[in-house]
Amino acid sequence: MQIFTTEKDLKLFLDSLRNNNIALVPTMGGLHEGHLSLVDKAKSLAQIVVVSIFVNPTQFARGEDFDDYPNTFDSDKLLLESKKVDALFLPSKDEIYPHGTESDYKVGDIGQILCGAFRPTHFNGVAQVVRRFFEIVNPNYAVFGEKDFQQLLIIKSLVKNLNFKIKIESIPTQREEDGLAMSTRNQYLSDLDREKAPHFYSVLSDTRDALLDGKSIYDAREDALNTLSKSFEVEYLEVLDANNLTQIETKTTEIIIISAIRFGGTRLIDNLVFRRKNV
Ligand code: PAJ
Repeated sequence: MQIFTTEKDLKLFLDSLRNNNIALVPTMGGLHEGHLSLVDKAKSLAQIVVVSIFVNPTQFARGEDFDDYPNTFDSDKLLLESKKVDALFLPSKDEIYPHGTESDYKVGDIGQILCGAFRPTHFNGVAQVVRRFFEIVNPNYAVFGEKDFQQLLIIKSLVKNLNFKIKIESIPTQREEDGLAMSTRNQYLSDLDREKAPHFYSVLSDTRDALLDGKSIYDAREDALNTLSKSFEVEYLEVLDANNLTQIETKTTEIIIISAIRFGGTRLIDNLVFRRKNV
């Protein structure tokens, strides 16, 4: 695995390999099995796999965990080497934002709902950095996780709006054995909170089962909110059309239960997508 810290060197390396397909996996490090599954997917799509590790300051608001974001570089590097990743891109802030952090791309309404309502500048920052990575790497494929479902839709719309010729691929949320979605931020949980955390996903699963059993969306959402609030501080929980995160209509068949909670100072997000039968 070759490590690059500058745009120039990475581009030189990749330009000599453009007769292959290239797949990009952008990350912020603190790698876990979920990230490694993205790498596996990238390997299945392309001969050349590039992983980036960059904790992007523009997607964190003041008071969020930018300064404390887990840095596990030594183990990240070993994990990526073991996956036979071709290139690891480790840029500095100046390399990514040589002209400052202003951005003219705005993600629009889809960036203002759900997580965007609680983190109003977050998705513009995500779009800004992903756009930069797309321009630098110019991959054939880029792979993202469905755990960050709203982010995934925003990146798909970025590709469309800016006419990138990049195929966006995704993988399902990778979970711990007890159901908790893998996340770099799980490291923040105390032992006690880690024990309680799987309850988040079990409420999402129960809500799906209730909906499949015919419970109304209104009642299922109310019940889920009530149950979750007993254990966590709930930011939001919504039951929406999984294709566009809008309200469910009679013709909607793909449904997402999507939620963000806080507890013990840690913010966790999760979602569950399923198909509704017999509509
Ligand atoms: P990060 O949180 O490091 O996540 C990198 C990628 O891993 C994202 O596509 C995310 O959806 C995926 N991922 C994280 N946990 C996962 C899990 N349990 N199962 C499957 N995929 C998972 O998301 C970001 O970084 C940043 O916003 C980034 C896109 C890199 C832009 O800075």
